[in-house]
Amino acid sequence: MSYKKLDEFPKDFFWGASTSAYQVEGAWNEDGKGPSVIDMAPVVEGTTDFKVTSDHYHHYKEDVKLFADLGLKAYRFSIAWTRIFPKGNGEINMKGIEFYHNLINEIIAHGIVPIVTMYHFDLPYALAEKGGWSNRATADAFVNYSKTLFEHYGDRVKYWLTINEQNMMILHGDAIGTAASGDTENPLQDLYQQNHHMLLAQAKTMVLCHEMLPTAKIGPAPNISAVYPASSKPEDVLAASNCSALRNWLYLDMAVYGRYNNIAWSYLKERNALPNIAEGDMAIMAKANPDFIAFNYYNTATVAEAGESDFKNSTGDQQITIGEKGMFKGTSNPNLVVNEFGWEIDPVGFRNTFREIYQRYALPLIVTENGLGAFDKVEADGAINDDYRINYLAQHIEQIQLAISDGVDVFGYCPWSAIDLVSTHQGCSKRYGFIHVNREEFDLKELKRSKKKSFYWYQALINEHSGIAVAS
Ligand code: BG6
Repeated sequence: MSYKKLDEFPKDFFWGASTSAYQVEGAWNEDGKGPSVIDMAPVVEGTTDFKVTSDHYHHYKEDVKLFADLGLKAYRFSIAWTRIFPKGNGEINMKGIEFYHNLINEIIAHGIVPIVTMYHFDLPYALAEKGGWSNRATADAFVNYSKTLFEHYGDRVKYWLTINEQNMMILHGDAIGTAASGDTENPLQDLYQQNHHMLLAQAKTMVLCHEMLPTAKIGPAPNISAVYPASSKPEDVLAASNCSALRNWLYLDMAVYGRYNNIAWSYLKERNALPNIAEGDMAIMAKANPDFIAFNYYNTATVAEAGESDFKNSTGDQQITIGEKGMFKGTSNPNLVVNEFGWEIDPVGFRNTFREIYQRYALPLIVTENGLGAFDKVEADGAINDDYRINYLAQHIEQIQLAISDGVDVFGYCPWSAIDLVSTHQGCSKRYGFIHVNREEFDLKELKRSKKKSFYWYQALINEHSGIAVAS
């Protein structure tokens, strides 16, 4: 549908940007922080580890000042569970509590709204050693951790995100570095048992948040994308429905409606992989209600009918759909171009995704990640002319406005990433930020910050939408 005139972005729209703790903070073992699964995972050859990253831990004041200069109305970041509880549970590390006190205060002092993810891939290693999410006790540890966050930061943090991209951890845990050992006779059942425990932890946390912090809002943060059939062949349409159920709706149906998606459930049943559900679990799932849905969007998936042959589950990349025996087979979409890393770019798919989510759940939406990874070049005069990033973001923002005009309630956009950081498995040379950090994979240099062309572009865009006159 096209419009003669598009609806405006709401005046109080959260023009934001995103990071995650383990990708930006560094200081991986400082001030009492315990190791996470990411710290203990093997480093991908040719790329940096996560020990220093952008050293935001030591540069946070400078960084928040830059975020304010960028004009951010909101900043979405995560808290490292292992700074608060070095072993995942038990004794609190007051130095960790203090760091986020300071960070949150700094953010608020600069007029920026903090949006906090409680868990972004960095499960405490001590919990992983005890079975990780396969162990129901991890769900209890998460709830205890979230209670601690609510107690310490609930007076200032009004927007909470539970678990970042739970669906990607389940579907592509190998690529992200979060996969559990799989030391079990029935790996698929174990995987979906982990999934059940995460869903349970999330549900309990949402209930707790509403009890403890009546004015705060909380929601899930999966990676959601529209799934296209490769053709109009009915079997391909069915394959798209299968893929969407396993990739998207399994997670959101539970978060919002408190029930297992029927297609996902039938898939698990057929493979003898149903999770064990303890008495009372489903009552908690039903009781938990998110206030909004946060989602990350990078691209869409296109799938065809799949035969009975096996697919390798991990592609080495979390954004590329491979397939699932008897369910769907990932294909490339001939209508889309790809970025330098083979990720298809689909701005219109963004609008499709907004529409699908909103029609299904009718909850306010916020985008907590969207962006372009690229090898930026620093010119001799220090400039970084990342026009490709500007184009990508501009095209996606245009589609948000179209989605708003379609009647979708969108209250924020937090592109990935506020500042350069280390990618999940492709190092720090794959850059996403508005702010450049001058380090290389194995040379930390001075970690100096500088503004890219996209910084000035986003700043002007935010100012324009906020009615702030821009000096020419
Ligand atoms: C999302 C994650 O999957 O995509 C981020 O939430 C991640 O942590 C982002 O960095 C981009 O992916 P990558 O692999 O390029 O870092």
